[in-house]
Amino acid sequence: MLDAASKAFFHGLARSTALKRLASRYGLRKPNSFGRRFIAGERIEEAIAAARDIEARRLTFTLDLLGESVGNLAEADAATREYLRILDAIIGSGIGRNVSLKLTQLGLALDRATTVDNLRRILDKAEPAGFFVRVDMEDSPFTDVTLDVVETLWQQGYRQVGTVLQSALYRSEKDLSRLNALGIRVRLVKGAYKEPRTVAYQRKADVDAAFVRMTKALLTEGNYPAIATHDPVIIETTKRFAAEHGVGPDRYEFQMLYGIRRDLQTALVDRGYRLRVYVPFGREWFPYFMRRLGERPANVGFVLRGIVRG
Ligand code: FDA
Repeated sequence: MLDAASKAFFHGLARSTALKRLASRYGLRKPNSFGRRFIAGERIEEAIAAARDIEARRLTFTLDLLGESVGNLAEADAATREYLRILDAIIGSGIGRNVSLKLTQLGLALDRATTVDNLRRILDKAEPAGFFVRVDMEDSPFTDVTLDVVETLWQQGYRQVGTVLQSALYRSEKDLSRLNALGIRVRLVKGAYKEPRTVAYQRKADVDAAFVRMTKALLTEGNYPAIATHDPVIIETTKRFAAEHGVGPDRYEFQMLYGIRRDLQTALVDRGYRLRVYVPFGREWFPYFMRRLGERPANVGFVLRGIVRG
């Protein structure tokens, strides 16, 4: 994780429409284009091919159609219908049934009730077909309403839906107690967004310490938690704590992002742990890509070398 200033710099670049247009034109065009490091492709067929490779490595995956913050409810409806088509494509392909999505893609910044309806449309198709649907967590203005939407659908009886908590936010430990009590499945992450000090820890050591505390609470009180990090020290701590508390490796899973620490992904599975890879795809890949750059400056060199090579 990078310091707050660098994170802010990349988040600023992510809002540049000129850069976005340029990247969208060149970023995924060829198999060796720079965007391919972190994004499986623009089309569902490419994502399914990436998923098959992952399954061949004995890992599991979740597919994420990239997109966030639609501008009007017609776009939110289109994104919902696109997700329904993706479910069909996944069913048709025979790969594992697990997707992730962002609620601002379904209209959260515009209207809460429509977003609940859109997520319900997806769950109504997904749940009977055996999918699990993970609702990603976005920046802090959306934390409350995201949890509220997920909890509303949970109260209505949907069970194959879960969400994400970010250890960077002060509020998350309290949210975790509530979600654990309800039995809602949680993916724990550090948090990818630049957040103000009024709501979030600014020091990496504090974010990491909260992550470890929350991991322990998840392993002892949670429902099949996902520990989503590439941090080798935290992964070791998790394994040790779980073993000491009699929590078998089949009662939780590690998760990592497509293109990051493949070595660690394979090593965990070789030792009997579960590992799910988050596989993003789609045309709206630029903000996601910029968040990955913001996490690690070395990635910028990788991208520049890719552009020079052409
Ligand atoms: P940290 O940043 O401390 O990095 C630990 C090590 O991982 C680094 O030393 C490096 O080796 C490697 N690494 C990390 N990032 C890298 C990168 N970009 N490129 C190359 N190497 C890298 N966030 C969020 O706010 N909402 C969400 O819904 C999700 N969803 C999500 C799903 C999954 C499966 C994962 C793994 C992550 C997320 N995240 C997320 C992102 C998360 O919040 C966080 O930004 C990243 O995982 C990076 O943090 P680490 O925990 O890996 O630790």
